[in-house]
Amino acid sequence: MPSTSMLRVDHAGEIAANTIYQAQANVFGLLGDTKTKKMMLDMWDTEKKHLKVAEMLLAQHRTRPSALLPVWSLAGKILGAATALIGKEAAMACTEAVETVIGEHYEDQLVHLRKITTQTPPSPVMDHSQSARESDTSGPGCPTSGLHPSLPLLSEVITEFRDDELEHLDTAVEHDAQQAPAHALLSAIVGYGCKGAIQIAKRL
Ligand SMILES: [Fe+2]
Ligand SMILES: [Fe+2]
Repeated sequence: MPSTSMLRVDHAGEIAANTIYQAQANVFGLLGDTKTKKMMLDMWDTEKKHLKVAEMLLAQHRTRPSALLPVWSLAGKILGAATALIGKEAAMACTEAVETVIGEHYEDQLVHLRKITTQTPPSPVMDHSQSARESDTSGPGCPTSGLHPSLPLLSEVITEFRDDELEHLDTAVEHDAQQAPAHALLSAIVGYGCKGAIQIAKRL
């Protein structure tokens, strides 16, 4: 079963992704770099779609959003604006680091979903498990396995998200992310920050 924490983290992450790209597009707009602004707007468009779907998934699974949404939103805004002010390469390095963590995060979820959809025996036992109680995704509708009928669709959605994030990662690398000043340090800070945020958003 996908736990509610999984959907909550995805939603919180998409909120932050939206504010990162929004802030970067704004800064590059102010700096008159229309080419980079356009790239950020294009990536922001993808994140807007992700966010809409993440909101729908929360509603569908009756999951509360992260209590720290204003924090994630502000953190994304600050990260996006700060990296864009350092320069185009730093903004791309931010994208590279964020999308690496998020791409891996979605890949982990896919592995988890694959496991539960292939290993769950055709029994109602799952309905009594802790994860089923938490997830609100168990119930009638799946003819043989007791799994929620939305799980295959959820896997498709997460696959699409992962591929989109990896495309953003490629865009960043193609546009000189690795030429950013103090690239290794910047990547480490952003990467660890994202991983920490994921752990916190799982609980709060
Ligand atoms: Fe996204
Ligand atoms: Fe993305």
